[in-house]
Amino acid sequence: MSRETGSTPLVDLRDISISFGGIKAVDGVSLDLYPGEVVGLLGHNGAGKSTLIKILAGAYQMDSGEIWINGEKATINSPRDARDFNIETIYQTLALADNLDAASNLFLGRELTTKLGMVDDATMEAETRKIMARLNPNFKKLKEPVSALSGGQRQSVAIARAVYFDAKIVIMDEPTAALGVHETKMVADLIGELKKQGLGIFLISHDTREMMDLCDRVSVMKNGQMVGTERVEDVTEDDILSMIILGKNPKKAA
Ligand SMILES: Nc1ncnc2c1ncn2[C@@H]1O[C@H](COP(=O)(O)OP(=O)(O)OP(=O)(O)O)[C@@H](O)[C@H]1O
Ligand SMILES: [Mg+2]
Repeated sequence: MSRETGSTPLVDLRDISISFGGIKAVDGVSLDLYPGEVVGLLGHNGAGKSTLIKILAGAYQMDSGEIWINGEKATINSPRDARDFNIETIYQTLALADNLDAASNLFLGRELTTKLGMVDDATMEAETRKIMARLNPNFKKLKEPVSALSGGQRQSVAIARAVYFDAKIVIMDEPTAALGVHETKMVADLIGELKKQGLGIFLISHDTREMMDLCDRVSVMKNGQMVGTERVEDVTEDDILSMIILGKNPKKAA
């Protein structure tokens, strides 16, 4: 499925605005996302990227605008609402419980229980083994607290959580910001895997090169507004940098 076939977008954000005090953090922004697509959000610090996706994630409530999911108007007032729409968020600061192991983190707040209502550690561990074998075959540290994991391994636990709970829409806010080269590659592979499974991904990063590699389309925000959205094959890295810095695409007439 693609945008060209005229299929229904997985997510359609329409004319979204939110202010904090007097500041319009997001100012009339529209953006969509199709199944199997990665859409990147770029822009300077404070451009409004995280705020926009936090509205979709239910962390903030917009002042005006509409969110459409699979062709239906959605009301998202809480992270729980977002979850009900199969939206999973992997934040800038990874929300994992450091003292717990991978399985406990994967099922945090959604623990599996036995027929008698006891927490079913054995099944949770087996399920974790299964999904990690699929997503990140080199992952062996199932029994250790996640504080002992590398940044990339922590990412894979967070991504496993999204996949296990049948996410259709994954939001990743700077997933590779604190990672080394090898780990960044691992997260890139995981994103490719999610894409193949038909999920839609919103990806935020400051690394323009990485975004050109990972995304199908990139959107640039500046001062709360949408500068533009381009298919990566239609633009150069310089075009994107111009959009970020100047607030317009030099290839397009003003
Ligand atoms: N909870 C909040 N209260 C007040 N102002 C906020 C809040 N969250 C964000 N802002 C403001 O909204 C604007 C957009 O911030 P946002 O975090 O969305 O930027 P960003 O594009 O994600 O930047 P970065 O690249 O640094 O992560 C900024 O001016 C910021 O100070
Ligand atoms: Mg941010």
